[in-house]
Amino acid sequence: PESGRPPVKQRLDSADSLPYPSLSSSPSKVPAIQRPSPILTFSYNSDHVLEFNDSALRYYVEPPRGADLGFHYEKWIKRPEERGRIDGLLTAWSRFKKTLHASSPSPSVVNVPDVNVMCWRGIMTKILAAPYEERDGWDLNVMLVKGTLYFEEHLSDAKLEEKNEMTPRQRLQSYYGYAFESYCTTSQPDSQGAPGWGGDVNTNVQWCSVVKTKLADRRVIIGGEVDCVRGTYSGKTDNYVELKTSLSIRNASDEARFEKKLLKFYLQSFLLGVPEIIVGFRTPSGRLTTVQLLRTAEIPRLVRGKPGAWDPSICLEWGDRFLTFLQAKVDSDSGRQVWRVSFKPRVGITAVMLNEAEVAEVVNGEEHVGFLPRWYWDELMA
Ligand code: A3P
Ligand code: MG
Ligand code: MG
Repeated sequence: PESGRPPVKQRLDSADSLPYPSLSSSPSKVPAIQRPSPILTFSYNSDHVLEFNDSALRYYVEPPRGADLGFHYEKWIKRPEERGRIDGLLTAWSRFKKTLHASSPSPSVVNVPDVNVMCWRGIMTKILAAPYEERDGWDLNVMLVKGTLYFEEHLSDAKLEEKNEMTPRQRLQSYYGYAFESYCTTSQPDSQGAPGWGGDVNTNVQWCSVVKTKLADRRVIIGGEVDCVRGTYSGKTDNYVELKTSLSIRNASDEARFEKKLLKFYLQSFLLGVPEIIVGFRTPSGRLTTVQLLRTAEIPRLVRGKPGAWDPSICLEWGDRFLTFLQAKVDSDSGRQVWRVSFKPRVGITAVMLNEAEVAEVVNGEEHVGFLPRWYWDELMA
C-alpha cells in the first residue's frame, strides 16, 4: 500500500482499545499529580441518607491489643451491596457550586473550576491499579458531558448477586474490617477514655470527603469515605486516617502478599490525600495482634526492590494514558451517550458505545439521562 500507512482495520483496532502496559521498566516521563485539596465533606446517616454535616465523622483512638474482631457480629447492620451510583457525588458537587455562587460578590465572577473527570475514589483506585491487577476485571459506564468525563462502575445483575451472596466465612472476614474501625474510633474528639468497643457496626454510616486534584493537566474531582481523623478535624486532609486490617505476617510469602496489597492501600489513601494508614494485623480467627502505622507517602519506598514490589509511576503513567484514550474515544459532543469501558487483566481496555436498550438497563427506570440523574443534567444544561 502507498506511503506505508497501516491498513484501515489495524488503525481502528488501535483506536478501539488500550493495551496492557509493560511492567518491566519505569516510564521515562511520569505525569504530575497534584496534592488533593478538600472542597467539602458530608455524611451518610444510619439509614444511608446523605446529609451535609459531619455527623458521621469519627476520631481515632488506640485499639485494644487482643481485641476480638468478631465481637457483636450478630448485631451488624449491613448495608446491602448495591450499584455504586454517582448520584451522591453529584449532589455534593452541585451543592459546592451553589456555595461558590452564594459567596461570590457578583454572579458573573464565579470561579467554578473546569472539571475533566468526576468519580468515586474506588473507581480511580481500580483504574490506577489496573497494571498490577492479575485477577479481577471491571466495567465502567462512562459519559462525557460538557468536557467532563463521568465514571460509574457497571455491575451486571450476576455480579451484584455474587457480591451479595458472600459465604459465611467471607461475611465474617468482611465484618472484622468494620469491627476494627469500631475499636479504633469514637464519635467525640480527644476521647481520653480507656480503649474499647466503639459502638455497634452500621455500615450505612459513612463520612465522605470530596477533593480536587490534578493528573497531568486534567482537573479531577474525587469523593470517598474517610475512616477517621486524628485529634480534631481541621477542615484539611492532614489528619485523615485510613484503617485497614490484614492477616498477621508469618513468613516470606505472607510478606510478599502484604506488599502487593499495599498498592491498593496506597492508591486509595493517596487519592484523597489521606497521610496515614493504621493497619491492624489479626489472626485467622479475628484476634487483633499488632497495629502498625504507615505513612502513605513512604509506602512506595517501603516496597521498592521487594518480592511484591510495584511502582506507582507505572500506575500514574497508565492512568494518564487511560484518560487520554477515553477523551479521544468518547468525543465531546457525545452528550447523553453512555459508553461501556471494560478492563481485562493482562489484555487491556476496550470501549464501546451502548445502544438505547442497554442504557435503559443501566438506569433501572429512574429519571436519568444516560446514568446521570435528570436534575443534575438539567442543572448542567441550564
Ligand atoms: P479491611 O480493608 O480492613 O478488610 P475500607 O478499608 O475501604 O475502609 O473498607 C472497610 C472494610 O470494608 C474493609 O476492611 C472490609 O472489611 C470491607 N470491604 C471493603 N471492600 C470489600 C469487598 N470488596 N468485599 C468485602 N468486604 C469489603
Ligand atoms: Mg473505609
Ligand atoms: Mg478502611
